[in-house]
Amino acid sequence: MITQSAISHKQQVVNLLQAQHLPYADLPQDLNNFFVVTGAEQLIGVAGFEVYEGYALLRSVAVLPEYRGKGIAATLLSIINTRAVSIGVKELWLFTESAAGYFERLGFTQTSRGQVPAPLRLSTQYSSVCPQSAAVMFKSIQ
Ligand SMILES: CC(C)(COP(=O)(O)OP(=O)(O)OC[C@H]1O[C@@H](n2cnc3c(N)ncnc32)[C@H](O)[C@@H]1OP(=O)(O)O)[C@@H](O)C(=O)NCCC(=O)NCCS
Repeated sequence: MITQSAISHKQQVVNLLQAQHLPYADLPQDLNNFFVVTGAEQLIGVAGFEVYEGYALLRSVAVLPEYRGKGIAATLLSIINTRAVSIGVKELWLFTESAAGYFERLGFTQTSRGQVPAPLRLSTQYSSVCPQSAAVMFKSIQ
């Protein structure tokens, strides 16, 4: 089941991100704009975004290893795309050390840190969490 009430699964979200070596300490308190896929007894996947003045920072995209390759992340990202457009977001951005190839398949383009829009530079992902070596990617969604 896909739900936006990620807040009621916050500890499971943290556990999944931690297990996949993704940042979790800087998650937004309310997990607004975060979506989860749940199974009968466990959290299967998560993806979310933070909004910075018309730009969205996509983050925390993770699926349990045994559920990968079934389109779960693609479904979550499609929901995020729709949600982001509905609130006026023009571009999705992300930093990734592990999945640039995956996001390229979904239409994201690699660029450099120097091209990151000023509002996004206020994010902890840009300023402190994601290393300089992380790929910087964006996709227009207008
Ligand atoms: C990346 C991830 C979220 C994809 O989840 P998923 O639900 O399996 O993705 P989908 O089912 O939508 O797509 C699967 C396809 O993407 C491909 N893929 C997965 N990771 C990839 C990567 N890093 N680079 C290129 N392709 C990748 C798979 O091989 C598969 O290809 P196929 O359809 O030809 O068989 C998942 O592998 C994951 O949780 N990885 C660890 C966490 C991570 O790196 N997250 C990204 C951080 S921003």
